[in-house]
Amino acid sequence: MLMVESRTLRSLAEEFGTPLYVYSRHSIVDHCRYIERAFEGHDHSTYYAVKANGNKALLHVIAREGLGADVSSKGELYLALEAGFPAHKITYSGVGKREDEIAYALSRKIHAFNVESVEEIEILNEIATRAGQKAHILLRVNFDIDAGGHSYVSTSLKQNKFGIDYHQATSVLQWAKDLSHIDLHGIHSHIGSQIIKAETFQKAAHSLVDLVMDLRQSGIPVRHIDFGGGFGVQYRGYVTHPKLPVEEPEELNLSAARLIKTVIPLLEETGCRISIQPGRSIMAHAGVLLVKVIYRKVTGEKIFIVVDGGMNDLIRPSLYNAYHQIIPLRINADPFEKVDVVGPLCESGDFFALDRVLPRAHRGEYLALMCAGAYGYVLASNYNARPRPAEVLVDGEACTVIRERETLDQL
Ligand code: LLP
Repeated sequence: MLMVESRTLRSLAEEFGTPLYVYSRHSIVDHCRYIERAFEGHDHSTYYAVKANGNKALLHVIAREGLGADVSSKGELYLALEAGFPAHKITYSGVGKREDEIAYALSRKIHAFNVESVEEIEILNEIATRAGQKAHILLRVNFDIDAGGHSYVSTSLKQNKFGIDYHQATSVLQWAKDLSHIDLHGIHSHIGSQIIKAETFQKAAHSLVDLVMDLRQSGIPVRHIDFGGGFGVQYRGYVTHPKLPVEEPEELNLSAARLIKTVIPLLEETGCRISIQPGRSIMAHAGVLLVKVIYRKVTGEKIFIVVDGGMNDLIRPSLYNAYHQIIPLRINADPFEKVDVVGPLCESGDFFALDRVLPRAHRGEYLALMCAGAYGYVLASNYNARPRPAEVLVDGEACTVIRERETLDQL
């Protein structure tokens, strides 16, 4: 029986209907603590990347753990403040901050802006001057590092829109440090997402350290390094059971804490304050998406398991070819078969898994898409006029609806 805390997932699917996102409060807390423990004895700040999952009730759990938040829009900033993150523990990242967004963030006195272009710094300085405030900035630098993974989530190649080319960093900062309402704190880097190799992070850390040393030689003070997020998580073979097909994990002993630990000593060489912005590594394992099998459809070539959730509920498989383990909530002794698990939408791209070996799934049964807590609901849409799913949070025996299922009159 697949459980989340003290509840069976099956009882939740029956009580709240499907498609349904289910989260575990304890899992979120544990993941925050694993990450904080990786820093034991090292001064640092952790800013949870709200974009991974911005449900206010979940943000509240993270805020209570004492973490900060990194936001990428006015909306995320609003949610973070509402959920209880103190403004002085909030940073704002993103390549396209509008003037009203900058003004709002300044008025709320957030900790820092991770800035990405000369024009953005100019506008920030202007708005800060009008407001009579100093804006703290970290310059996001693009080190041209290949972080691997899907091209849509790579952010630090020179052809990507993010950050300022590292060759230009010194001249930009020479100029920015003398602006009247800018207070230069340091350097920011975020090289991509779902990165599973320690060496990739180490390469980024070395580049950052070299840059900080160069900047100091040029008389540019750097006090703070924000190393970003991107720490990969295990998606394959997350749940093992003798009656389930064996899935090889993507990397042995993959853990965010281990990845983080490999870079702390490198970054500390600079004497800078260190911060990170994990999103997925806090949320992915804390959530699942439950769906119900509507039909088992056999065509000449293939077997399709048609379920009641689709790409509008969880777009990661369609958009990034992402892998989510699929577990039947009733594990039976039926033989395995190779199937496509597909949604009801009118696109061939609407799938959760292609050519996946699963125990035979029957109409009316429930399936759990594992590790769906990050970049799941936040990317959901109303495509095909499908109301977005409900979200529930389990805490021991207790279960709270933290977002109602959308209704037809909300479409
Ligand atoms: N900091 C910045 C500036 C970011 O852009 C991101 C993610 C993070 C931190 C958090 O990265 P994480 O620790 O979650 O990897 N929708 C894609 C992932 C997009 C990531 C966008 N930026 C997916 O579902 O795989």
